[in-house]
Order: sequence, then C-alpha cells, then structure tokens
Amino acid sequence: MRIDILTVLPGLLESPLSHSILKRAQDKGLLEVRMHDIREYTTDKHKQVDHYQYGGGAGMVMMIEPIARCIEHLKTERTYDEIIYMTPDGETLNQRTCNTLSMKQNIIILCGHYKGVDERVRELYITKEISVGDYVLSGGELAAAILVDTIGRLIPGVLNDETSALFDSFQDGLLAPPVYTRPADYNGLKVPELLLSGNTKQIDIWRHDMAMERTKNRRPDLLSDEKN
Ligand code: ADE
Repeated sequence: MRIDILTVLPGLLESPLSHSILKRAQDKGLLEVRMHDIREYTTDKHKQVDHYQYGGGAGMVMMIEPIARCIEHLKTERTYDEIIYMTPDGETLNQRTCNTLSMKQNIIILCGHYKGVDERVRELYITKEISVGDYVLSGGELAAAILVDTIGRLIPGVLNDETSALFDSFQDGLLAPPVYTRPADYNGLKVPELLLSGNTKQIDIWRHDMAMERTKNRRPDLLSDEKN
C-alpha cells in the first residue's frame, strides 16, 4: 500500500511514522509513505500557500493552486483509490473505515491548516473527509498520523502475530477484555484463576463475557448502533 501525504509541515509527521509498527511495515515493503511539501508546488518567490478569505473574517485559507498541482502530479504517476481530507467536519473515524482503507492500494491524504482549504479543493478532488474526533487540532498532520497508524497496522503481514489485530477493541464491535501478565500475584492482587488453567475454550468464553461487560459499562452505544 502506498500513502502520499500532502502537508505544509512534513517535519511534523516524520517521527510518528518512523517508529515501531509503522517503521516495520515500511521496512518490510508492505507500506510506503511519501510526504509532499505543498510549498514546493507554489510558483511565487515567497512560496505562499494560503491567503485571506473572500468575504472577510479571521484566519487564512489554503489556496487551491499548489494543492491541485501536487495532486495532478501524483495522479500522472498512479491511480488513487481515495483522496482523503483530514478535517474536523468530516465523518468520524472508526474501525470499520480503517479496515476498509487498509485494503486500498494508493491513497492521498491532504492535511489542512489555518481555516482549512479552499472549498473548491474539496469539490474537485476529495473523495472522503475524515475527522479523528470532535475537537479541533492545529492542523491535519496529527490526524493523518492517527489515520496512517490505524490503517498501517491492519495491512496483512504487518503485525507479528497476525491474529492480534483481530482481538483489538472495536474489531468485533466490542471493547477488548482485560489482560494480565506476570506476576500472577502482585501484593495479593491475583490474576483470575481461569487464565492460569490452560482451559482455552473456557478462557475464550470468559474473554468474550468480559469484553461484553466492559462494552456495556463503558460504551453501551457500541451495542446499540451501526458504528462498527
Ligand atoms: N484538523 C483539525 N482538527 C481535526 C480533526 N479533529 N480531525 C481531522 N483533522 C483535523
């Protein structure tokens, strides 16, 4: 899978994408992430990417031309399955969307800044608009990092233990059950006996029951709506 990220702050994304699982995915050749500095697609000497908004009002708006040039350039090289714009007014990201996106070949992610991008960018190019939650970040970069992380770890072969993503919270519409490791007894706080029994069938049932109970207590909305 290839992900091209369009940003005015490529440095902000370098670190989150170059460690741990995302690094492994890229080292294994399963994921290729390319950063594109939108400023490089300007034609004026100040490399200006934004301007005041028509009609007045505070805040700058990202101009269409450099973004369009960058996208058009990328489109001459390959076909894209989705061109995603990270924005607080997009659809809220959930595990179902991550699963779907992890099966795509080529994706562009556009990170907004300031007041966002000129509406015509959205009309002309964007096929999907994603928010990572009901709060406003200073820009789309950290949101893009979240999206790439959630997608990247789902690409087959990326996680060591292929089954582990299957048991993540949300993957089956439930939160994950509690987990324990050594020691079995910490100052009198004991690991549930069953987990030490080796009875895998009973353990599976227990885990499912605990996942259900946790979901009921913490996120009852997951049991009643179509989110996942
Ligand atoms: N850009 C600013 N805030 C955002 C959010 N909540 N989700 C996605 N992109 C954003």
